[in-house]
Amino acid sequence: MGSDSDSKATPQERVPRHVAVIMDGNGRWARRKGLPRHRGHAEGAESVRAVVRECARLGVQELTLYAFSTENWRRPKTEVHFLMELLRTFLAAEMPEIMENRIRLRAIGRLAELPARVRRDLERAIATSSVNGGMILRLALNYGGRQEILDAAKRIAEAAVRGEIAPQDVTEEALRGCLYDGQMRDPDLLIRTGGEMRISNFLLWEVSYAELWFTPICWPDFREAELRTAFNDYAGRERRFGGLGGEPLSAHGGRRNAGA
Ligand code: FPP
Repeated sequence: MGSDSDSKATPQERVPRHVAVIMDGNGRWARRKGLPRHRGHAEGAESVRAVVRECARLGVQELTLYAFSTENWRRPKTEVHFLMELLRTFLAAEMPEIMENRIRLRAIGRLAELPARVRRDLERAIATSSVNGGMILRLALNYGGRQEILDAAKRIAEAAVRGEIAPQDVTEEALRGCLYDGQMRDPDLLIRTGGEMRISNFLLWEVSYAELWFTPICWPDFREAELRTAFNDYAGRERRFGGLGGEPLSAHGGRRNAGA
């Protein structure tokens, strides 16, 4: 890290605790360079490495990356295959650094529908890193926000059929506990690269009060400096959580979820 980034460092108490990222623009990055799409994804994996490392270094507690959506199956078979293999290569290559930085790997999504070899590698990496106590790196894989809420509703309905939950007990907390990762704190900051200003079915329940940060920069070009720019912008914002404001960002730090 150079002196330039030091002078712009985000004060620790204003570093977002949970950062969620929609990593968009891999294909466009490649097209602009006259390269095949898969080269954009490969370079995107380098950005994943850089951003994971920087988030851990800056004291982020949770980082959730949208790596493969439920809609991404509609892409050509060769591209889907490439993305799946890229994930396996990433897991194999990054495990030493994940362990060294005490990162806990987790995954959300309809994981049972992933190819068996991907699931096996993923489960192994999750189990190995579960002993760590550092930042949570959560990969959203075969993930859709509506599907997540639907799956939670089904779990609650099944519990109701078994007589384990009554209608009056279906609270926000009960539903939250049935989401893919019941331990997840709400994201403080949602970053989307690639110029589109959409949520695209990502963490629909969880981003209710997140600060949104959009950039035209394509994901393969999004590295440490761009991350710090987003953090500095976030640090200057006032979060009101539906109230009247005046509270600094850190006032909500102790609460897992913001509520109203
Ligand atoms: C969006 O770009 C990106 C994806 C659908 C996949 C994200 C995957 C990576 C960043 C690769 C590595 C990830 C891990 C976890 C190792 P796009 O293809 O939709 O871009 P476009 O909108 O420009 O076509």
